[in-house]
Amino acid sequence: MARILTGIQSTGTPHLGNILGAIIPGIELSKQSDNEAFFFIADLHSLTQIKSGEQLRKNTYATAATWLAFGFDTSTNVFYRQSDVAAEVCQLAWFLNCYTPFPMLSNAHSFKDKSKKLSDVNAGLFTYPVLMAADIIGYDADFVPVGKDQQQHLEMTKDIASSFNYIHGETFVLPQGIYDKRVMIVPGTDGQKMSKSYNNFIDIFLSDKALRNQIMKIETDSTPIEEPKNFESCNAFALYALLADEGQIDKMKTNYATPGYGYGHAKQALFDLICEKFKTERVRFNELMENTDEIDRQLAIGAEQAKAAISSVLGKVKNKTGY
Ligand code: ADP
Ligand code: TRP
Repeated sequence: MARILTGIQSTGTPHLGNILGAIIPGIELSKQSDNEAFFFIADLHSLTQIKSGEQLRKNTYATAATWLAFGFDTSTNVFYRQSDVAAEVCQLAWFLNCYTPFPMLSNAHSFKDKSKKLSDVNAGLFTYPVLMAADIIGYDADFVPVGKDQQQHLEMTKDIASSFNYIHGETFVLPQGIYDKRVMIVPGTDGQKMSKSYNNFIDIFLSDKALRNQIMKIETDSTPIEEPKNFESCNAFALYALLADEGQIDKMKTNYATPGYGYGHAKQALFDLICEKFKTERVRFNELMENTDEIDRQLAIGAEQAKAAISSVLGKVKNKTGY
C-alpha cells in the first residue's frame, strides 16, 4: 500500500481553482484501493502570513469543511490539522534544520515570491520548506500530489532526507512528488490563474446572491449583444466548459454564435451550473461551518493517528542523533 500525503494551507476558504485543481483530484486519488491518504491542513504554515487568530481558525474550519463536503472519507484515511501535531512536527523540523544548508533555503521561491524586501521575511517563512519536509518525511510518505509550484519544496525535502540518511543510515523514506499535468489551471474572473492573491476567485460557498455577483464580475470583451461572440477567448465560457458536460458545452458554443445571446446570459448559465453541480457540497459545507464541533471531532481522530505515525519516525531520529 502506498501512502499519499498532501497539505493545503488555511489561508482562506478554498476557491473553485483549489477545488478543481487540488481537492477533487486528491479525493479521487485517496479512493484508489491501493492508497492510504494522509491529508492535512497546514495551519502552522499559514502563520507565516496570517496573524489574526480568529481569521486563522475560520480558514482552518473552512478548509476542513471543504474536504469533508466533497466527500473525503475520514474513516479509511487520515485527516488532521498540522497544529494538532505541532509538538512532534516542530520538533522534527528542528532536527531537519540542522541538516539543511543555508544556501538551499536562500534559493526558495516560498519567501522570494511572497516578499518584496528581505526585512519583510520572517524566519518562519524562510524555514517554511523545512517544516514542509517534516510534514512529509515525518509520515513516511511515498507520494505527494501537489501543484507544480511546490516542486522546489519537494526537491528540498528529498535533499534534506538524503543528507540525513547519508550521515545516519537509512532513516527516511524518500518521497516522490506527483505533478499531474492533466489537472487544469482554473482561470480567475480576470483570465489569470485563479488565486487568493489576485483576488480573482470564485467562492462557491457564498450565498446565491454573493456568488452570482462574483460571477457577474467575470471580465469579458465589449462585443455588442447583437453580434456573435468568440467562445474561445471568453473567460465565462472557459469556466463553464470546466464544469459542463459535452452536450452543454456544444449548446453553449451555439449560443455564443447566436446574435442576441449576451455575456450576461452566459454568466447566468455558469451561475446556474455551479449551483446545480455543487448543490449538496454547498449545503454540507454550510452545515459543517454551523457545527464546527463535528469538524473538531473528525480532526481529533486524525490527530491521534498522525501523532502515532510521526512519533515513530521521530523516535528513530532521536535514536540516531544520540538523544
Ligand atoms: P492560491 O493561489 O489561491 O493561494 P494555493 O497556492 O494555496 O492557492 O493552492 C492550494 C492548492 O490548489 C494547490 O495544490 C494548487 O496547485 C491548487 N490551485 C490553486 N489555484 C489553482 C488554479 N487556479 N487552478 C488549479 N489548481 C489550483
Ligand atoms: N506548501 C504547500 C502549499 O502551499 C502546503 C503544504 C505544507 C504541503 N506542507 C505540505 C503540501 C506537505 C504537501 C505536503 O500548497
